[in-house]
Amino acid sequence: MNHSIIDNLHWRYATKRYDSSKKVPQDAISIIKEALRLTPTSYGLQPLKFLIIENNAIRNELLSFSYNQKAIVDASHLIVIASLTDIPTQEIDDYIENTALTRDIPIQQLSNYSNFLKQTINNLSPIEKKMWAQKQAYIALGVLIDICAQLKLDATPMEGFDSDGYDYVLNLTEKKLTSTLVIPIGYRHSEDSAQYWKKVRKSSEELFEEF
Ligand SMILES: Cc1cc2nc3c(=O)[nH]c(=O)nc-3n(C[C@H](O)[C@H](O)[C@H](O)COP(=O)(O)O)c2cc1C
Repeated sequence: MNHSIIDNLHWRYATKRYDSSKKVPQDAISIIKEALRLTPTSYGLQPLKFLIIENNAIRNELLSFSYNQKAIVDASHLIVIASLTDIPTQEIDDYIENTALTRDIPIQQLSNYSNFLKQTINNLSPIEKKMWAQKQAYIALGVLIDICAQLKLDATPMEGFDSDGYDYVLNLTEKKLTSTLVIPIGYRHSEDSAQYWKKVRKSSEELFEEF
C-alpha cells in the first residue's frame, strides 16, 4: 500500500538499541504532550499521569527494575504512563467541574450525568477500578506509538518492568498511582539489528471480517 501513514508504520519498530548522543527536540516533546493530553478515555475521566523523564540518575535507578533493558538509559527520554489505583469521587467532581467551565454550562445541568458516573464507577470493585484505569493507559500507548511513527521518532512500548520498583523510585504509591507502561523514545542506533527484522503480522484474511 502506498501511503505515508503506512510507510511510517512500517518504518517504526520496537527499538532495542538507542543512539544515546541524539536528543528529541523540545517542539517534538510538545507535540507528544498535546497528543497525550488529547487522548480519549472512557467517560473522558483521564485517570492517568504521564511522567517524562530525562534525568540520568533516575533512569539509572529505574534500569535495575527494567530487566536491564538498556533503552531505559540510552533513549533520549523515558515516558512512564501511570494510572490511578483508585477512582475517588473527587475525580468525578473535578471532571464535571471542568466540563461545566470548559463548555460554559451551569454545573447543575450535569448533576444527572455526575450521579450516573459515580454510580457506575462505585459499582466496580477496587481491582476492577484499577484495571479500568490501566486500560486507559493502553489507549494512550496506541496514540503515542502512532504519533512517534508519524514524527519519525523511535519508541519502545514496554510492559517488561517491575511496576513495584518503578512506583517506589517515582514515589507513585503515595499519589495513588501505579506505573503501567514504560516507553523510551529517541533515535535508533545504526547498529540496532532489530531495525532490519521483517514485521511479523497476521494476514488481513486472518484479522478482518467484513460484512
Ligand atoms: C504493550 C506492549 C508491551 C511490550 N513490552 C516490551 C518490552 O518490555 N520489551 C521489548 O523489547 N518490547 C516490548 N514490546 C514490543 C513488542 O514485542 C513489539 O511491538 C511486537 O513484537 C511487534 O513488533 P514491532 O513493534 O517491532 O513492529 C511490547 C509491545 C507492546 C505493545
